[in-house]
Amino acid sequence: MHQHASLPMIARQPSGPLSGSVRVPGDKSISHRALMLGALAVGETRIEGLLEGEDVLRTAAAMRALGATVTREEGGTYTVHGRGIGGLVEPADVLDMGNSGTAARLLAGILAGHPLFAVLTGDASLRRRPMKRVIDPLSALGAAFWSREGGRLPLAIRGAATPLPADYTVPVASAQVKSAVLLAGLCAPGVSRVVEPTPTRDHTERMLRGFGATVVVNTTGEGGREILLTGQPELTGRPVSVPADPSSAAFPAVAALLVPGSSVTLEGVGLNPLRAGLYDTLAEMGADIEIRNRRDEAGETVADLTVSSSPLSGVDVPPSRAASMIDEFPILAVAASCASGTTRMRGLAELRVKESDRLAAIASGLAACGARVSIEGDDLVVHGTGAPPKGGATIATQMDHRIAMSFLVLGQVTEEPVRVDDGRFIDTSFPGFAELMRGLGAAIGPA
Ligand code: S3P
Repeated sequence: MHQHASLPMIARQPSGPLSGSVRVPGDKSISHRALMLGALAVGETRIEGLLEGEDVLRTAAAMRALGATVTREEGGTYTVHGRGIGGLVEPADVLDMGNSGTAARLLAGILAGHPLFAVLTGDASLRRRPMKRVIDPLSALGAAFWSREGGRLPLAIRGAATPLPADYTVPVASAQVKSAVLLAGLCAPGVSRVVEPTPTRDHTERMLRGFGATVVVNTTGEGGREILLTGQPELTGRPVSVPADPSSAAFPAVAALLVPGSSVTLEGVGLNPLRAGLYDTLAEMGADIEIRNRRDEAGETVADLTVSSSPLSGVDVPPSRAASMIDEFPILAVAASCASGTTRMRGLAELRVKESDRLAAIASGLAACGARVSIEGDDLVVHGTGAPPKGGATIATQMDHRIAMSFLVLGQVTEEPVRVDDGRFIDTSFPGFAELMRGLGAAIGPA
């Protein structure tokens, strides 16, 4: 998909305020998990609102390669016919997970519990990202791995015939690592135990329960969580309705906050408390965000958000909140660069190992636009003046969708337009981003 020439894009001030009511595409995390659990279940799983982004389509292709039937109906509903736990078949070729860390790491967990041989690879961004964090705990369950230096993809896996149940404390705050171990634990007899010192998004735990697994979650004394999963359950196919992705909604939300006079409604946004840290932070900064019609859909909380332009003030974002908004720091930093006063975002070491080194990409992009920004240890510090930075720069996207979208939002308010060198990666998580933004009145297009 990404072998073609790059796609430079430009963003400039729109002629008026942003307005309208839209639904952003489906949640990326939940979409991957629905396809994977559908493939591990017996019977049919119908998925409404699946994100048809590149990352998720890679997972769909991998599930097909492992023997599940995945079909798209007219209108975008997906149907998965699963093979049951332990029933996946050996893939005939290398599984290319494209740009997606979630797809690669969760799939490594599934493969670790199946006695078959598989090879995972990805694009240049994914091949730079650390996989040792899943190789180590999955090896302890009995799977064998061969990887490049430093645990990088391509990664060959020989799964265990009968994996051992897990007893693992996740050393970094990572839902991907937690989920990989739980998915391997599905194939093991007995109870797997995974402890996370810092709670991370719990879509895997919620969805496993929905498919019929026994999952017990206890809080630990220090604010962490202990997850107990009973292995070898029979998962049963079920309908899944995917909420709109709060990480994608963040882009039009911040654009509405920044462009004077705007009011935008974002429909059906997932507000799982372990994902919603950005919205809490924006509210602390003075954002006018009205949350209406809060409801439960398939085990996840969703709501409609009406975001109106607001003057923002700098805040201190504690490290304890980082996991609940880990993908939103690029767009929060953009908001902070237009706020009055300093915003300090603490404890962001994990941003160095995302689709790009996001700490460096945010800091250099904002600096190129004329903002005052620094990296202090693992903290990102943005000094706002109460007015947007000047803009006028071309941002190096570095194969990172969220860097591209964040700076295209910034370009809505800078005096001079902002360009990004390559917008192709936006399709990994938010196909139709530019069109949706233009529908609200934004000025974003090819350069
Ligand atoms: C994800 C978890 C996060 C996040 C990623 C999606 C998931 O990664 O950055 O976009 O779906 O589990 P980590 O868990 O590695 O922090």
